[in-house]
Amino acid sequence: MRYRRTKTAMTLLAGLCAGGFLCAPASADELYELGEYLAGDCTACHQLEGRAPGIPPITGWPVESFVMVMTAYKEGERDHALMQNVASRLGDEDMQALAVYFGKQGQQE
Ligand code: HEC
Repeated sequence: MRYRRTKTAMTLLAGLCAGGFLCAPASADELYELGEYLAGDCTACHQLEGRAPGIPPITGWPVESFVMVMTAYKEGERDHALMQNVASRLGDEDMQALAVYFGKQGQQE
């Protein structure tokens, strides 16, 4: 199900690109929108406000740190089966987009 939604987003972006609007690099606004869209799969666990029991908050991070951590999960450098699984399905642009989106939510405690 998640795969299908990501695919829709990518198809959308590809369509825009074909239209000559956003052949990469995507603008911050476009990344934010993609991030907001993809974040639906994260916020069930990672709350946008406050702290869920056992789940670290991921809002308000600098983009580079966020992408670094997600890449570490994806490449298995950081060990956590669940997050490795989540990260393995994300492409570079997905991670950037999620970083931009979550970076703008709330403030880190
Ligand atoms: C089923 C619950 C669940 C889902 C869904 C989930 N996460 Fe996580 N996430 C966790 C848990 C639990 C941890 C703590 C893992 C650890 O200890 O390394 C974590 C850790 C993280 C961290 C590192 C936090 C830190 O303080 O080091 C980031 C970044 C992150 N998740 C991003 C995401 C993103 C982005 C998504 C959506 C694409 C997502 N997560 C989806 C449960 C989830």
